[in-house]
Amino acid sequence: MRIVSIGGGPAGLYFSLLMKKSDPAHDVTVVERNRPDDTFGFGVVFSDATLEHVAAADRESHAEITSHFAHWDDIEIHYRGQVLTSAGHGFAGMSRQILLDILQRRCAELGVRLEFQRDVADPSDYADADLVLGADGVNSVVRGRYAEHFRPQIDWRPNKFVWLGTTFPYPAFTFLFKESPHGLWRVHAYRYDASMSTFILETTEDTWRRAGLDRADEDQTLAFCERLFARELQGHRLLKNRSLWRSFPTVRNACWRHGNVVLVGDAAHTAHFSIGSGTKLALEDAIALAQALQSHGEVEKALRAYEEDRRPEVERLQRAAQVSLEWFETAERYHGRLEPLQFAMSLLTRSFRVTHDNLKLRDPRFVSAVDRWFASRAEDQSQVAVSAASPPPPMFTPFRLRDMLLTNRIVVSPMCQYSADDGTPGDWHLVNLGSRAVGGAALVIAEMTDVSREGRITRGCTGMYKAEHVAAWKRIVDFVHAASPARIALQLAHAGRKGSTRRLWEGADEPLAEGNWPLISASAIPYHPHSQVPKAMDREDMSHVREQFVSAARMAEQAGFDMLELHMAHGYLLASFISPLTNARSDGYGGSAANRARYPLEVFDAVRSVWPSARPMSVKISATDWADGGLDFDDAVAFARALRDHGCDIVTVSTGQTVPDQKPEYGRLYQTAFSDRIRCDAEIPTMTVGGIASYDDVNSILAAGRADLCVLARGHLYDPYWTRHAAYEQGWDLPWPDQYASVKGFTPRKD
Ligand SMILES: Cc1cc2nc3c(=O)[nH]c(=O)nc-3n(C[C@H](O)[C@H](O)[C@H](O)COP(=O)(O)OP(=O)(O)OC[C@H]3O[C@@H](n4cnc5c(N)ncnc54)[C@H](O)[C@@H]3O)c2cc1C
Ligand SMILES: Cc1cc2nc3c(=O)[nH]c(=O)nc-3n(C[C@H](O)[C@H](O)[C@H](O)COP(=O)(O)O)c2cc1C
Repeated sequence: MRIVSIGGGPAGLYFSLLMKKSDPAHDVTVVERNRPDDTFGFGVVFSDATLEHVAAADRESHAEITSHFAHWDDIEIHYRGQVLTSAGHGFAGMSRQILLDILQRRCAELGVRLEFQRDVADPSDYADADLVLGADGVNSVVRGRYAEHFRPQIDWRPNKFVWLGTTFPYPAFTFLFKESPHGLWRVHAYRYDASMSTFILETTEDTWRRAGLDRADEDQTLAFCERLFARELQGHRLLKNRSLWRSFPTVRNACWRHGNVVLVGDAAHTAHFSIGSGTKLALEDAIALAQALQSHGEVEKALRAYEEDRRPEVERLQRAAQVSLEWFETAERYHGRLEPLQFAMSLLTRSFRVTHDNLKLRDPRFVSAVDRWFASRAEDQSQVAVSAASPPPPMFTPFRLRDMLLTNRIVVSPMCQYSADDGTPGDWHLVNLGSRAVGGAALVIAEMTDVSREGRITRGCTGMYKAEHVAAWKRIVDFVHAASPARIALQLAHAGRKGSTRRLWEGADEPLAEGNWPLISASAIPYHPHSQVPKAMDREDMSHVREQFVSAARMAEQAGFDMLELHMAHGYLLASFISPLTNARSDGYGGSAANRARYPLEVFDAVRSVWPSARPMSVKISATDWADGGLDFDDAVAFARALRDHGCDIVTVSTGQTVPDQKPEYGRLYQTAFSDRIRCDAEIPTMTVGGIASYDDVNSILAAGRADLCVLARGHLYDPYWTRHAAYEQGWDLPWPDQYASVKGFTPRKD
């Protein structure tokens, strides 16, 4: 087989040596534009896991590579005069030049032809080879030449960074945060041999321009950085090596192969340097491609198998890298706002791959310091004593909203049961909500309950519009209070244009077959093209509905609810004013974000004025519509801030369900990033909901300051005793009701 690798970086060299090793009859050439010892960059990092693959693929190069490793276990975070250390991370660094030297030598030894200083202008010059490897890095000419087949997407990130070296031998993987009059600077530094470290400096474009670095050459950059970090470098020098300021491109390709041409490494995909995985991905691509060629004789089949094998892993890593790079891009959000230990947790858990539990395994001392700190903050906030000597896991700390005290941080999300009779909740609701309160959650939010009969989604929805509703709800509230320490809230709503539809299991959001009632909304825009066209509310309708909310709030007080949540999410009536996709009004309630917020805030104020001042109120919002032309995230933040200013105590941050053609990115904790940003930027407590399934995620979210309470919906349908089970797993003693006292001697078994 005749193989040409365009590019002699880690991907091209490693693939070439693996192919030659598997069959010396292969004719393998690496074409590289640089000289053999002409490298860009300083050191690269590997995690322990990467090296297992490399060891299995070629023991010889693995042995040489590992003999040059600088190992470290700690991550150090330098933040406002403090150094926070988290141990047990298991990384190794080495010089990129030495890595390339080893791979070049191994290639030569096995008989790979290496052609240096040959710049390939047109890859089709090699079309007669059996296989052409696009291993030519981030600015790949191969990718550009066949762009219509690979369909690359290049996302240029806004921050600026420069890759430097230093003679300061950092003892740990080090993150430095440093403020100057120009702004905030972040450094990612790690040692790659006995005496040298990589030193990547990153900042926002604004800070970079304010510092005049847009006009700086390499030497001026170096001088500036040495001045800025003089104290941290302790007399050591910074070193340059084509150290130009860049923006990071996240490279993705719809397809990685075309005929006999295939992309590997950075040409195919990049992952931000903050997760240090570019070289790992390049080597793993090389291994997977070589294996695919060995298993499938035919090139076409092998290339397909390679892409099918690698794409899921690469995309998983790119998702983690995306969250990570966004954290660094927006570090100003956290810097100075979070206390040091919480800042460190936020940084360490930024991509959700490192969690409270696995940090505890790596470094129990660090996590117990975090838990102690968190417990003391919870004690201050709730005015309830929390043991500092043996602090609870974050999820079992108390939290106060006005006079409502929650004994832990778990909330049952409101979930429509579609089982009411003209709005009246019955036995199903009693058992459903009652069992979840007994199950240990601190707060149970009863389902979306409508302020009028015509404000219901379906005929089975609960309401708060008839005198008998008060008594029916009071029976449930009284049970929850008598049987558990849980507090219970009511979610008040009006369905707007999403009303008059079938029950979930009969066709969600589909109009009734018969007996539809008239709908109202911010504008006369139907949900589906085949849905009923709602009436655009006039001022009289708006006042009428506002008073219905007020009346329902009074009834909720009589029923004894501890908290009210107003539903301003998911495209229902109040949300229809907020989103530009559903609000096309030309009066003072449409147009600008402030105008679109006016009516929802008017309803909030009216309800707040009658709801007892000792009891809290929350509002659930959709922070994005997941659709083009939808709510701008900055507007969502401004709305949350306005809610805070109007006396809202906490915001539940949800997303979407505004329009049927939304494109949500579902997954684990898929809405938590929105909660994190609203909590910091709008400076209001938040509840996060969506894809929360493990107590470990709950502890991580809370300790990192991404929310104050964690809300589980489907998790609680699956397991009403979710909180009790989480307590058991963590060895935390959650008192049982007297009736269940004998469970204490019982050991549940899974086997
Ligand atoms: C600031 C920064 C820090 C990083 N830190 C790390 C880290 O700590 N750990 C880590 O694993 N990764 C890191 N990376 C990423 C890492 O450098 C790359 O992901 C990795 O080198 C990709 O390997 P590759 O073989 O695909 O591409 P490259 O290493 O870019 O190699 C491509 C080769 O192709 C050659 N070439 C390009 N065009 C042509 C042409 N037309 N003709 C001939 N030859 C050509 C180039 O000269 C180059 O030698 C970092 C990247 C940056 C930008
Ligand atoms: C059966 C069901 C009914 C729901 N009803 C409501 C509701 O009444 N009010 C509301 O705000 N959200 C409602 N939701 C959305 C959830 O409260 C929650 O925001 C969403 O399911 C994401 O959380 P999860 O991933 O934990 O399920 C409902 C979800 C489900 C599964």
